[in-house]
Amino acid sequence: MIRVGINGYGTVGKRVADAVSAQKDMEVAGVVKTRPTFEAVMAVNNKFPLFSNNKENLQVFADAGLKVEGTIHDLIQDCDIVVDCTPNKTGADNKERIYVPNKIKAIFQGGEKHHLTGTSFSALANYNEALGKDYVRVVSCNTTGLARTLSTINRGVGIRNVRAVMIRRGPDPWDDKNGPVNSIVPDPPTIPSHHGPDVQTVLKGIDIVTTAVKVPTTIMHLHAVNVNLSKESSSEEISGLLAKAPRILMVSGIDGVTSTARVMEYARDIGRKRSDLNEIAVWKESVNVINGNELFYFQAIHQESDIVPENVDCIRAMMGVTPDAMKSIRMTDEALGLKKWW
Ligand SMILES: NC(=O)c1ccc[n+]([C@@H]2O[C@H](COP(=O)([O-])OP(=O)(O)OC[C@H]3O[C@@H](n4cnc5c(N)ncnc54)[C@H](OP(=O)(O)O)[C@@H]3O)[C@@H](O)[C@H]2O)c1
Repeated sequence: MIRVGINGYGTVGKRVADAVSAQKDMEVAGVVKTRPTFEAVMAVNNKFPLFSNNKENLQVFADAGLKVEGTIHDLIQDCDIVVDCTPNKTGADNKERIYVPNKIKAIFQGGEKHHLTGTSFSALANYNEALGKDYVRVVSCNTTGLARTLSTINRGVGIRNVRAVMIRRGPDPWDDKNGPVNSIVPDPPTIPSHHGPDVQTVLKGIDIVTTAVKVPTTIMHLHAVNVNLSKESSSEEISGLLAKAPRILMVSGIDGVTSTARVMEYARDIGRKRSDLNEIAVWKESVNVINGNELFYFQAIHQESDIVPENVDCIRAMMGVTPDAMKSIRMTDEALGLKKWW
């Protein structure tokens, strides 16, 4: 059993903890909180051992009547790897202060820079690069969405270049500090956006230029993707490749999935925990090859959950227990109920 510590039990951390605990070959050694909020109570109810981020906060938990097993320093003595799900840039500090001195493997999230680890990860794109590594970063939700569909198309047909527009959600649904907004914000206003270079960390050498705007929605991102294919193909061939790939869900307006709101309604109806959709939703009718090699498609990204299965695969790759990417992806997806795959 791989024992996994989760540092930071927020949007990503609580989802990764649930996904790890669903796997046959790994278990949650503990989760780290800074304060006794309802998430801390939820962790205890879920039977995840609870740890404080430092000694000073032990008393805060004691005052709230919540039993903690110790600090993160105790947790790392008793686990094989930490998944760092703390807020942007906190992971970099944790690496220098905690993980490196204690020689514990750690995974970071997309809010950290690529150079923190030198290895970024997206399972379908570059699983093998993480094999046996001590420090790896799982790319952001937007980059995961791009890497998943583009690596599939690149393997199947080949890509000459990519131009894509990201229409990004404002804040996450729970995040009342960053909303409400009533604006369309070029984010960043400079062109290109950072998403293209981030895709290049996992799909080396790909020619990609991205732009991004933020809009007043909380539930999903939407990408308008234009791919120049390296050889002639057809809409049917590309749709077939995407439909067969793991973690990509073909949706259709004809079936009533006409918007990101409807995608989320679908996720609710199929009973996914927290209404998550770990898959990237691609609209069937948007997949269109024009002039032989110009491909267009729309895809929607559930930002809070698409990176969750990636973290699980990254654990297996770094622990070196499953050298075969597809075997790990299959194990993860079966455990998470991402059904298409088997
Ligand atoms: N949200 C998304 O849509 C999304 C998608 C992909 C990637 N990411 C990336 O995932 C990472 C985590 O983001 P998130 O959205 O999960 O953030 P989040 O919801 O704010 O959760 C982070 C949690 O970490 C805890 N925390 C703060 N300081 C800490 C510390 N020093 N030690 C341990 N825990 C600490 C906070 O909880 P307490 O202080 O209450 O304990 C907070 O709830 C970021 O790099 C982000 O860019 C986020």
